[in-house]
Amino acid sequence: MSADTPLMKDPDASANPPVDGGELIRFDHVTKRFGSNTVLDGLDFSVASGKHVTLIGPSGSGKTTILRMLMTLIKPDEGTIRVAGDQLFPAPEKQVREVRKKIGMVFQQFNLFPNMTVLRNITEAPVTVLGLSKDEAEARARELLEMVGLADKCDARPTQLSGGQQQRVAIARALAMRPQVLLLDEVTSALDPELVAGVLDVLRDIARTTDITMLCVTHEMNFARDISDQVLMFDSGRVIESGPPEKIFNDPENDRTREFLSAVL
Ligand SMILES: Nc1ncnc2c1ncn2[C@@H]1O[C@H](COP(=O)(O)OP(=O)(O)O)[C@@H](O)[C@H]1O
Ligand SMILES: [Mg+2]
Repeated sequence: MSADTPLMKDPDASANPPVDGGELIRFDHVTKRFGSNTVLDGLDFSVASGKHVTLIGPSGSGKTTILRMLMTLIKPDEGTIRVAGDQLFPAPEKQVREVRKKIGMVFQQFNLFPNMTVLRNITEAPVTVLGLSKDEAEARARELLEMVGLADKCDARPTQLSGGQQQRVAIARALAMRPQVLLLDEVTSALDPELVAGVLDVLRDIARTTDITMLCVTHEMNFARDISDQVLMFDSGRVIESGPPEKIFNDPENDRTREFLSAVL
């Protein structure tokens, strides 16, 4: 990436930049139930600005639920969620819309708009939500497509691309909104094995060359080890162990962490 890419440190990028090293995401006593199933029970957890934090843990432990609450796709039952110092939950709808702009997400299923070209997939939200001109949005989209290695696919339709290429478009689309935090939910688990590495390489590149905060759910443990500042081991809606990747992967203290790692590694 060149020094003038849209993701590099830019004092004007946000009206409310987080203090460097401060908390970008903070959950306080967040509880989420689906019927009688309490998925998160008074969860406290934070992500420091600029850090790369990875959530690991068994299926059904509530990892996706955390990311979906940050995307405001679902609401907690109790507790508070703050992003860059502003309350996301509970908050009035207008504030939710503003805070929500700080967050981008890439899903397991790429969720591209099938009836739009690759370029339009990326420019649509910057034009309609951020109010960028079409030219501005297209210039930024082309730069991002170059970053994810798809500069030649501007006019393609999603169905003409491989899963790995579609996922790289989805990453570019999320970054086009200049979020302060990028949420990644098992972004390679729907891909054919030979396409996984290309997507992970793009994410490694983003982690290395930008100052975007990343909150990542993955079963790719080598990737997690490479990019993470902190790994949180999640079980039954609670963080049961956290630390730097060397500690969690080489010398975990909790039995559940050890069991989980020996099952996935
Ligand atoms: N929309 C929903 N309705 C009912 N139950 C749900 C819903 N979403 C998630 N759950 C339940 O919440 C629990 C946690 O799910 P999830 O956050 O997807 O876990 P993970 O991502 O760690 O696999 C699971 O028991 C799941 O069945
Ligand atoms: Mg999940």
